[in-house]
Amino acid sequence: KVNIWLDCDVGNDDAMAIILGLFDPKSNLLGISSCFGNTSLENCTNNTLRILSSVGRSDIPVFKGAESSLKSVRVTTTAHGKQGLFEADRLIKTFEPVQNISLYDLMKKTAGDRKFVIVITGPQTNIAILLRDHPDIIPQIQEIIFMGGTSGFGNATPNAEYNIYSDPEAAQYVIDTCKKHKLKLVMIALDLTYTCLVVEEQQKRIKEINTKFTDWCLEMLKEFQEAYKAEEFDYPPLHDPVALFYALHPELYVTKSIFVTVECESKLCYGRTVVDKHGILELEPTLEFCRSVNVEEFWNHMIEAVKQAAKN
Ligand code: BDR
Ligand code: CA
Repeated sequence: KVNIWLDCDVGNDDAMAIILGLFDPKSNLLGISSCFGNTSLENCTNNTLRILSSVGRSDIPVFKGAESSLKSVRVTTTAHGKQGLFEADRLIKTFEPVQNISLYDLMKKTAGDRKFVIVITGPQTNIAILLRDHPDIIPQIQEIIFMGGTSGFGNATPNAEYNIYSDPEAAQYVIDTCKKHKLKLVMIALDLTYTCLVVEEQQKRIKEINTKFTDWCLEMLKEFQEAYKAEEFDYPPLHDPVALFYALHPELYVTKSIFVTVECESKLCYGRTVVDKHGILELEPTLEFCRSVNVEEFWNHMIEAVKQAAKN
C-alpha cells in the first residue's frame, strides 16, 4: 500500500479525491491537512470532516492549515457553490475535532518511520510552510504530487490555473525545494484533468450504486457540471482525484521531465506556470509533467472507491 498525506481545499473534486484515497485498495490515507482555497479555511475544514464522517472514517486525523497565501492574499471561486461543497450539511453525522498540534508533529505522529507521498489538491501554502520550517521531514517524503497549473489557458485568469494562482509564491517554493533536495515532484495540470470528465456514462455508473451517499455525490457532480457549463464545458473535469491516482498507479501515466516555473512578478501573468514542454529554454527539468493518463482505468478505480464508500 502507498502511504498518502492529502493536502486539500474541499471542494467538490477534492471530496472525490478523499473518497479515492480512503477506498482504493492500494491506498493508505494517513491524514489530511486543509487549506483555504475553493472557499474559506473554516468551510474547507468542515467539508473535509463531513466527508470523512459520512463514510465512517472520522478516525483520519485532520489538520486545519493556512487561512491565506504566503503573501496573505485570499482568492475564492464560485465553481463549488457557497460552502465550497454541494449541500455539505446533508453529510453531517458526527465528527472528531481537528488536531491541535502542528502539521509537522501530526505527520510524524501518524507516519512514524514510514515514508509517505504528499498529494496537494489546493493552494500549496501548507506544504511550502512545512518544507520551509521543517526541512528534516524531507527525507521521509517519497514524492510530492500536485494538481495545479496549465500549459494552455487558465481557469482563474486567462493565464493562471486556480490552485497556483491562489499562492504562486508557495508553488514556486515547493518547486525550488524539491529541486534542491532532489525530491520527485509531479505536476497534474489542467491539460491532463480536462481529459478526465464526469461524462454521462460515469454519472450512470454512480447512479446505479443507488444509496443516499451516491445520490448526494451525483447531485454534487451535477452542480459542478452546471458551473462548468458556464465555462463552455459539457461535463466537469474531476481534477483532484487524478493527482491522488498517480500516487497509486504511476504506470498508467505518461510523463516527461521538464522545466516548469511560476511567474510571480507579472501583472497579467501572475500565477502562470511556464511549462517548457519542448526544452526551448535549455534549463534543467524541475518536475515530472504528466502528459496523459489511462482515463478508463482511472474511472474504474474511482467508481470502485465510490462503491466501497457507499457501503458505510
Ligand atoms: C483546481 O481548482 C479547484 O477549484 C479544484 O478543486 C481543483 O483543485 C482546478 O483548477
Ligand atoms: Ca482542490
